[in-house]
Amino acid sequence: MDAIDLKNVEVLWNRKVDSDYGRIGIRCAGYAAARPGQFVMLRFPGRFDPLLRRPFSIFRLIEQDRRIAGIELLYKIVGRGTRLLSMVRAGDAVDLLGPLGNGFCVAPDTRRIFMVGGGIGAAPLVFLAGSFKKGSVSAGHAQVFIGGKTRGDLPAMDAFSAMGLAVNAATEDGSFGFQGLVTGLLERAIEENPPDLICACGPMGMLQVIARLAKKYKIPCQVSIETLMACGMGACLGCAVARSGADDSYFHVCTDGPVFDALSLRF
Ligand SMILES: Cc1cc2nc3c(=O)[nH]c(=O)nc-3n(C[C@H](O)[C@H](O)[C@H](O)COP(=O)(O)OP(=O)(O)OC[C@H]3O[C@@H](n4cnc5c(N)ncnc54)[C@H](O)[C@@H]3O)c2cc1C
Ligand code: FES
Repeated sequence: MDAIDLKNVEVLWNRKVDSDYGRIGIRCAGYAAARPGQFVMLRFPGRFDPLLRRPFSIFRLIEQDRRIAGIELLYKIVGRGTRLLSMVRAGDAVDLLGPLGNGFCVAPDTRRIFMVGGGIGAAPLVFLAGSFKKGSVSAGHAQVFIGGKTRGDLPAMDAFSAMGLAVNAATEDGSFGFQGLVTGLLERAIEENPPDLICACGPMGMLQVIARLAKKYKIPCQVSIETLMACGMGACLGCAVARSGADDSYFHVCTDGPVFDALSLRF
């Protein structure tokens, strides 16, 4: 499916989720076939600050009158672009390029799946979890593992809970759930009852540990990578990640990913 370059699409809402996070709903055509794990490049119309579009995973499709009327994004305020995004109001407009990238691939015979999100990395997993009711993985066979530094860094928790999913949370400061890293919780759950597939998104360090666990327990694993991105279309080569294997070749996260088989990457 080709990406669509939409100008001046309407913002439906922009709500705070804790102090550093927000959820923005955008009315846009052409996203009915978007897949979990795909992303958009967003820019502010008529502004050259920031100059470059910013990438965001699709968090949810917005359904109105049984049609897909737009998309929702979950964002963390980390710099100039996301701070400006947090100031956008309902009725304002943004430019969107998307849907981009490949998305997660859950085989029809998958029965048990673990989804692991670190901080804002939980965003694409909410879309993934929402897709299961149409497929073979029932809510009872999908488990969510989310981790953050503190309670405020679990912005997708309510969205998972609302879908009736079991959510296992870890915070480094112990302010919510298990005290420690989410990978600790994950390994314990794998030892008890391993899944058929792990899908993960978050910081590189977390993905590296998850890739190692998946290899150790021989579980297929897909990781979604959130690198810096300038163009989102394979033109700037700014999003390269190393392939596994002997040579020095690279993938481009924007065009080859953002979702990869963990075994295909050199962490
Ligand atoms: C495929 C993909 C999907 C993404 N999905 C989401 C999402 O759903 N929600 C969300 O909030 N963010 C997501 N991101 C990250 C988001 O694009 C960046 O946080 C955003 O571009 C920062 O823009 P800024 O202008 O606010 O910050 P900048 O001023 O550009 O940067 C501020 C600081 O954040 C760091 N930074 C910028 N981008 C990243 C990054 N990708 N990873 C780690 N550090 C970064 C910079 O190095 C700098 O230190 C995604 C990134 C990719 C590649
Ligand atoms: S972001 Fe430009 S090549 Fe990937």
